[in-house]
Amino acid sequence: MADDYTHGHHESVLRVHRQRTAGNSAAYLLPELRPGMTVLDVGAGPGTISTDLAAIVAPGRVRAIDASADVVAHAEADRVALGIENLSYAVDDAYALSSEDGAWDVVHAHQVLQHLTRPVDALREFRRVVAPGGVVAVRDVDYEGTIWWPRVPGLDEWREVYLAAHRGTSGDPAAGRQLKAWARAAGFAEVRSSASIWLFESAEARAWWGGAWADRALHSSFADNVLRLGIADRAALERISEAWREWAASEDGWLLMPHGEVLARG
Ligand SMILES: C[S@@+](CC[C@H](N)C(=O)[O-])C[C@H]1O[C@@H](n2cnc3c(N)ncnc32)[C@H](O)[C@@H]1O
Repeated sequence: MADDYTHGHHESVLRVHRQRTAGNSAAYLLPELRPGMTVLDVGAGPGTISTDLAAIVAPGRVRAIDASADVVAHAEADRVALGIENLSYAVDDAYALSSEDGAWDVVHAHQVLQHLTRPVDALREFRRVVAPGGVVAVRDVDYEGTIWWPRVPGLDEWREVYLAAHRGTSGDPAAGRQLKAWARAAGFAEVRSSASIWLFESAEARAWWGGAWADRALHSSFADNVLRLGIADRAALERISEAWREWAASEDGWLLMPHGEVLARG
C-alpha cells in the first residue's frame, strides 16, 4: 500500500513547491552535474527542480516520477508548454521503480524521504537503479529544527500540530538529521553529508510562505489529516492560520528551516 502524503496537492501546497529551483533546493548536487548525464528525479511534484536539472544536463535525459497521477499530468502539461524535450514525466513508486538496474547517472529526491514510512528501503531502491560510479542525492528539511521570530504563540501550536500530523500520516518530520544514517543503513560505500537552510524574511517571502501556510492550515489534506486524526480542532487550525498571517505581516518576521543533504555512492 502507498504511504499517505501529509500535505496532499492543494493549490496552497503546490504554490510553495513551484518556487523551488535547482539553485535554492539542490545546490549541493550542482557541482556533480555535467551535460549529457541522465537523471531520475523521484517524487518530483510539480517538476520545477526537474525542469532546471534538464537544462543543466541537456542533452542528457531527465525522467521525473511521482506517485500522484494528478501532479504528473500537470507537470507534463507545463513541460509541453515550455517545449522541453529532454524531460519526461511518469507515475512511478519510489519503493519499486520501473527502471533497470544501474540505469541512471544521478538519482535525486528532494523533500521525499521525510514522507516515506520506509526511507531506507527507498534508498536501497535508488541504489539499485543508479549506475556504477553514479550518485544518489537526497535533501530533506528537519521540521523539529525550524526557528522563527517573533514568538507568535500560534506558531508554537503550528509546530506541535504539524509534527503530530506528519507522524500520524506517514514518515518523519525530523528526516533532515537522519539522512546520513539512512544512507549508511541502505549500504552505500560512500556517504557525504552536508546541510543548508531556507531563510524566509523578506516581505515577499513572508507573504508567500506565511500566506500559503495560512491557507494550508484551513483547506488542504494537512487540515483534513489534523481533523481526521483528532490532533486538533477547527478552532486550533484557525488560530494557526491567523498566526501565519500575523507572522507574515510583521516586519521583524524571520523563519529558518534547516535541511540535511546526502550525496551517496557505491
Ligand atoms: C514534498 S513533495 C516534493 C516535490 C518536489 N521534489 C519538490 O521538492 O518540489 C513530495 C512528493 O513526493 C511524492 N511521493 C510520495 N510518496 C511517493 C512514492 N512512494 N513514490 C513516488 N513519489 C512519492 C508526493 O506525491 C509528492 O509530490
